[in-house]
Amino acid sequence: MSNRSSRREFIKYAGALVAGVATGAAATYYGLRNYIPPAQTITQTLTESITQTVTETVTEIPSCTASLRAAAENRGLLIGSETAPAELSNSRYANTLAREFNYLTPGVDMKWIRVHPSENEWYFASADRIVKFASDHQMKMKGHCLIWHYPSELPSYLTYAMPAEEVRKAIENHITTLVGRYRGKIHAWDVVNEAVDDNEGLRKSFFLNKLGEGYIGEAFHVAHEADSNALLIYNDYGAEGLCDKSDRVYSLVKKLIGDGVPIDEVGLQMHLSAWNYPKPEDVAANVRRLAQLGLKVNISEMDVEIKKVPGELPERLEAQRRVYHDVIAACLKERNFTDITFWGFTDAYSWIDKFYGPDDPLLFDEEYQPKPAYWGVLDALLDK
Ligand code: G3I
Repeated sequence: MSNRSSRREFIKYAGALVAGVATGAAATYYGLRNYIPPAQTITQTLTESITQTVTETVTEIPSCTASLRAAAENRGLLIGSETAPAELSNSRYANTLAREFNYLTPGVDMKWIRVHPSENEWYFASADRIVKFASDHQMKMKGHCLIWHYPSELPSYLTYAMPAEEVRKAIENHITTLVGRYRGKIHAWDVVNEAVDDNEGLRKSFFLNKLGEGYIGEAFHVAHEADSNALLIYNDYGAEGLCDKSDRVYSLVKKLIGDGVPIDEVGLQMHLSAWNYPKPEDVAANVRRLAQLGLKVNISEMDVEIKKVPGELPERLEAQRRVYHDVIAACLKERNFTDITFWGFTDAYSWIDKFYGPDDPLLFDEEYQPKPAYWGVLDALLDK
């Protein structure tokens, strides 16, 4: 084996090792798409090659191709997944999560009723578990979510007949305690979630009905008091491209800024379907107009349903790959675009199946094998 080709072999196989021999994900992408060498072969090749070339090749390992995480870190980007403590106990799940992502968001474990089920009762064990996993694996955390209208996630002590002034104090207590507990450990918080109506104005939620629209700005002020270093986000769905709802989100955050509210970012949830999704150039234009307000933008909950795409499974998966790739590639061109979170990563666990019936909306299949969608995201991260 010539010095040059052994060096090439080392680079390929070191890439595979970094990615994790279990999936061989990145190595398959670069020239080994259909061949994942057994661990023993990799070890032998490495041992032979290292003695000849290690000093000159270490810096050449194409680490940015080894995983989504490596590719994202190579361009200074956070790439994340929603998660839950029960799933962290599954080692295949946990290993893939830590290898592929550097940002974590709890799906439900920081929502009001989960951490604060009654006025003087707090339950932090599940949220703590996720925060510890993030810290153990050098990942950042996004807190999700402080104020959300969703009735089953709000405790009855709050929503049942509490006078407005007490609701205001309860919000202050809730945000101050929760944000304060994790001060310094949470990179960004979804402060207010889904406050804009699907058809007109603001959502007629418990909070709006009780307190009027001022509750939105107040929540941001309290969160800022509790942790002035955390980035504070307004997060919503159906406001990704250019449409009436994204116009309403734009107007809301513009007004908040005008009122001196400490808001840093807008989260575009990006729950898409491959048969009907916003034009990537419209998503980019939306991100850009938010930049003009001085706001950062992230994709906060991305998944792509495929069940109604016509054709056989390979065609549906290809349509899904295109959506993931094209939307993410368009966002990555915008200078104020900071991070991507997927709402889970394996089709083994997705809210879509529970809410809308069986689908395959995520990047890995139920056996933790990367799908075409995974390669689409990796391509976008590599500007391909
Ligand atoms: O906590 C119970 C658990 O005790 C029980 O064993 C289990 C049985 O199914 O149900 C558990 O609660 C469910 C929970 O998810 C955890 O799986 C709730 O019934 C279910 O309503 C809840 O759904 C979550 C939903 O928000 C409401 O909180 C989804 O997982 C979560 O993905 C979804 O996330 C939202 C974002 O927060 C905001 N944007 C939209 C997104 C999708 O709806």
